[in-house]
Formats: sequence, C-alpha cells, structure tokens
Amino acid sequence: MGNRGVLLNVVDIHSHILPEVDDGSKSWEISVAMCRMAANDGITHQVATPHANDRYHYDRLYLQGLVEQLQSLIGSAPALSLGCDFHLSYENLQNVLANPARYAIGNTHYMLVELSNYSVPPKTSDCFTQLGDRGITAILTHPERNPILRENLQRVLEWAEQGCVIQLTGSALTGFWGDRARRAALWLLEHDAVHVLATDAHETEKRIPILSTAREAAAKVCGEDVAEALVMGNPRAIINNQKLPYFPRPKIARDYRKISN
Ligand SMILES: [Fe+2]
Repeated sequence: MGNRGVLLNVVDIHSHILPEVDDGSKSWEISVAMCRMAANDGITHQVATPHANDRYHYDRLYLQGLVEQLQSLIGSAPALSLGCDFHLSYENLQNVLANPARYAIGNTHYMLVELSNYSVPPKTSDCFTQLGDRGITAILTHPERNPILRENLQRVLEWAEQGCVIQLTGSALTGFWGDRARRAALWLLEHDAVHVLATDAHETEKRIPILSTAREAAAKVCGEDVAEALVMGNPRAIINNQKLPYFPRPKIARDYRKISN
C-alpha cells in the first residue's frame, strides 16, 4: 500500500500552543502559526495541554479563556480544546484526586500524565490505580523519551495491560529525539503497547505540530490501519470521551532488551 499523504481528521491530544503560559509558544503570532501548520497537516482538532508542574502553575479558567481567544483568531480549523501536561508529583496527585475534572482533556475522563525523568518509583502503578478509582484514565506521555523507563520498557507494557493509554511523541519515530528514543518507540510499537501519537509541539521550527510524517513511520512498522488508529480513531475517541477502538493486549516481551542510555 502506498503513502496516503496528508489525511484529514487527525487529532492531536498534546501540544503547547497557548502563548506565554509555559515553555511552548512565546507569542500569539507563534500560536496562530502553529495552528495554521497543524491545519495544513490535516489536524482538525488540537488539544492545548499546558504544563502543570513545579515551574508552571495551571489555572484552568484562565487557560480556557486563552483557548477561546486563540480559537477566535484562527477561525474554525483546527478546533481547540483544553487539557493539561500533568506532571505526576505527590502534590499534583493530591490535587487531581481532590478535583478529578481540573486537568482532564475537555470534559472527558482522560488525562495526560508525564513521569519524572529522574525518578520513577515502584509505586507509580499504584498512582495509576488511584487515578482509575477516581474515574480518570491516565494517558502516559512519551515513555520513549524517559531514560529511566527506557531501562525497563516492560513496565510500560504492564501499565498498558493495566489500562493506561500510551502516547508516543510522533517525532520520536522519525529520529528527532535521537536513536535511543527512536528504538524505544519502535520497540513499544512492535509490542502493541502504543495507542496514540501526538506532537507535543512547542513552536514552529523544531518541535512542530506535524503528525503526517510520524504516521508514515508508524505505518512501516505496524501497517496503515494501526497507524491511522493512532492519529485518528483513538485520539478522536479520547476527545469524545469514548472507549478506544484500538486497544490491543500488549505482547509479552520475550525478546526484552534494555535500551541503554
Ligand atoms: Fe508536553
């Protein structure tokens, strides 16, 4: 099957397109340019996911206002909604357990969860369980870029088995994040433990809002149909608060090998 080129109806659930709220877009002009770039790549819905971590405070109401302002500047495409790049710290966990809707993608039960690059405690699985008990489905962001997880990708398979949604950065598949991240991303794909590709876009030069190249790279590994599920069917289901249409059981990692750093 040949290259299908730019597809329409792609949904990007992870991006830093709101201006001056975190390390993403630095201005309204850049935010508008990012939206145009996404639309040209076939992205019809973009979720703005500002950071919530030690450095960046997350004010849902204020951020929602920015989403609406940006939408009015760009017109209808892409449609925008608000989520959060939620860093899993003790404090953040207490916050979300007290107020499960605050960090979600729109009005859904899905929420992005980013783990620390410096420490991934054994209790992380319990955190996912606690979130699940509060009705939140965690979407684990870019495990392929986490040096600790790369040492033991088996854990990611277990979380997928536990019901976590696994999101790769699209550009990890095309080598932007280096060889180790690329190999980890491919390994997870080969083990049926990837459910969504997202851009995690920050600007218009390097970390850009483009998914078509990642979809093509994924298609070479897992076929066109799965690749489309990762950028269309699954993320569309997420923003609509539905069950993911593509959620296979991960393959047992008999061929497990460490992707050393
Ligand atoms: Fe991010």
